[in-house]
Amino acid sequence: EKGGYDHFMLKEIYEQPRSIKDSMRGRIYPNEGKLQLGGLKQYEEKFKNADRIIIVACGTSWHAGLVGEYLIEEFARVPVEVEYASEFRYRNPIISEKDIVIAISQSGETADTMAAIELAKEKGATILGICNVVGSSIPRLTHAGVYTHAGPEIGVASTKAFTAQVTVLTLIAFYVAQIKGTVTTGKLVELLTELESVPTLVEKALKANDLIVKIAEELKDSRNCLFLGRGSGFPVALEGALKLKEISYIHAEGYPAAEMKHGPIALIDNEMPVIVIATKNSSYEKVISNIQEVKARKGIVIAIVTEGDTEVKNMADYTIEIPHADEAFLPLIATIPLQLLSYHIAVMRGCNVDQPRNLAKSVTVE
Ligand code: F6R
Repeated sequence: EKGGYDHFMLKEIYEQPRSIKDSMRGRIYPNEGKLQLGGLKQYEEKFKNADRIIIVACGTSWHAGLVGEYLIEEFARVPVEVEYASEFRYRNPIISEKDIVIAISQSGETADTMAAIELAKEKGATILGICNVVGSSIPRLTHAGVYTHAGPEIGVASTKAFTAQVTVLTLIAFYVAQIKGTVTTGKLVELLTELESVPTLVEKALKANDLIVKIAEELKDSRNCLFLGRGSGFPVALEGALKLKEISYIHAEGYPAAEMKHGPIALIDNEMPVIVIATKNSSYEKVISNIQEVKARKGIVIAIVTEGDTEVKNMADYTIEIPHADEAFLPLIATIPLQLLSYHIAVMRGCNVDQPRNLAKSVTVE
């Protein structure tokens, strides 16, 4: 049932070229620069007039929400707020009938996310769901939604569900951009054509596995780990840190790279691994200065770089290459090596990767 892999988690990591493809199948028309999301068709006017979009989720799904914020604001030009479902529901949040709430959940059963939906519904907002488990509770509570087609995710640590959520959020960002006309059809042709090639890019990113095993060997006895990223690389850093802590029990934190100097820099010494998303995009030069700050304090730098990079390679202790992609698609690709890194470290530490202690696949308690 594990398809020849030692663990479900590894199998699911390797399924991503397929699960990402399945999550966009039948929904994009790259040649025409068009998207079709059946579930949202009825809500075109709502999207056109929405003052803002509020995303509610927990854990990894919340990280996907942060990527969604970046994409929706960039392309659809609608203000987005991303909220922990548990915090949202226990405040007295300001919600109106013009708000669109997007709830993201792999299991579709997370208690806090369900409570947040109910609260927003009472206040008259339109609720959309992004769920993976067909027929689960959340899709029944929402007005409409878009399923991720990741297939069943057995490993407790979410991998393919996360990239499927990010894929669907990318589609929603482009879809709203199409409705609102904030992106030209020509640009959508370009973006959708590149999106269609993402599964192939993920396939390439998976080829770093052997190198990642060697890096894992070097990091496996660390007690702490810092993950840094900027822009859409920041949620990737958060997700990388969550994956490492939940399956390997190494304390890890994800940080916006520029915030390091406001605190975490105090932790850096020659025993502190710092994993940096340092791909060639708008924040490349800034990230390079952050790497220099880490190296000046003898931290161990593991950099995720764009294929062919030389500048970061000269500074970092280890580099992992990923194929070049537009910044919009970076999270889908840069997440892959971080998933593999956590997986191998956890296996080397003798941890139960598929069933980490104290964790459950669906969190039905509040
Ligand atoms: C992390 C993980 C959890 C879930 C969270 C939300 O790997 O699996 O953080 O992401 O419990 O679960 P769903 O998406 O089912 O609502």
